[in-house]
Amino acid sequence: MSEKQQVTLMVNGTQRSLEVEPRQLLVHALRDQLGLTGTHVGCDTSQCGACTVLVSGEAVKSCTMLTVQADDCKVTTVEGLGDMAHLHPVQEGFWEKHGLQCGFCTPGVMMTTVGLLKHNPNPSEEEIREGLEGVICRCTGYQNIVKAVQYASKKLGEQESEVEIASAAPRAKA
Ligand code: FES
Ligand code: FES
Repeated sequence: MSEKQQVTLMVNGTQRSLEVEPRQLLVHALRDQLGLTGTHVGCDTSQCGACTVLVSGEAVKSCTMLTVQADDCKVTTVEGLGDMAHLHPVQEGFWEKHGLQCGFCTPGVMMTTVGLLKHNPNPSEEEIREGLEGVICRCTGYQNIVKAVQYASKKLGEQESEVEIASAAPRAKA
């Protein structure tokens, strides 16, 4: 058996140190060692996208990456997106537009969406469908997923404009 290695990950804003086998996949560190079971395993062969997380801000299928490759990286899983009281705009979009049925694919689809909107904040329908090509949903037929992504894109754009307006507003005198 190969010797274990020490890795440090910043997971959802918290530093986590782990001892892992060099061959261990990131998805298994997240699920089995850190208990972050929102990241799903649908295939283990990089087909389904259910295991998608953000590594250094980029959407990555965590069954295609070794844990040791993520050493010193910032990792965001679906648990780090938002909570019931403060849904992330992408989560809100899936809620509002009924972008899920069984929900198995949903964490991966949402994390892929976050990565997509980071690079293309206003994607066309075609670009959304292209951007989600790597994630498989067996239930929804994708139509409501596309609507959820459009909702999130609009909401994130509105939030950005509010921040710009607030930062441009003259400061109140003390
Ligand atoms: S479990 Fe990673 S792509 Fe399917
Ligand atoms: S909602 Fe069931 S697989 Fe996508």
